[in-house]
Amino acid sequence: MKNIVLIGFMGTGKTVVGRRLALRLKREFVDTDAEIETLTGKTVAQIFARDGALRFRSEEELLVKKLAGLEGLVIATGGGTVLNPENFRLLKENGILVALSASPEVIYDRVKGKQSRPLLLNGDIKAKIKELYQERQNAYKTAEITIDTDTCGIDEVVEQITSILLERNYVK
Ligand code: S3P
Repeated sequence: MKNIVLIGFMGTGKTVVGRRLALRLKREFVDTDAEIETLTGKTVAQIFARDGALRFRSEEELLVKKLAGLEGLVIATGGGTVLNPENFRLLKENGILVALSASPEVIYDRVKGKQSRPLLLNGDIKAKIKELYQERQNAYKTAEITIDTDTCGIDEVVEQITSILLERNYVK
């Protein structure tokens, strides 16, 4: 049974949607950021600040290697996870990639004022979102399923994903 892997930019709802989707499909849920925090005993923000981005990316890669070998999970990735080609390959090999999308304006509204995202802590956050958004769109576009979350609530997104998965016989 393939994993269902949520990918997409920060603030698109991967964690909340993933948790609810897992409940809906009666599957185990893993959030890569939360798992890295448990494994390291540090928050993502602390890892970036104290150990650097590279260290975070290497924790992320190690975890992806482990998760991609498991089956039947719902996995919420971090916004940068699938930018690493090896992570992308491994997750895709045994998973169905589902991208959550949102416009930069909506993303800004969702993430502003939060301190948990090291890439969006300082400077002109709107400009940073636009820049990363441009850079990353092609990676997110590789997903088999894309759901726009701009105007949808969490339950609606979960239902849309579920009905596509059922329609394509990816889940029973
Ligand atoms: C990142 C996104 C974050 C987290 C880290 C880096 C990124 O996850 O993994 O701060 O590179 O986009 P969310 O997408 O869950 O915010």
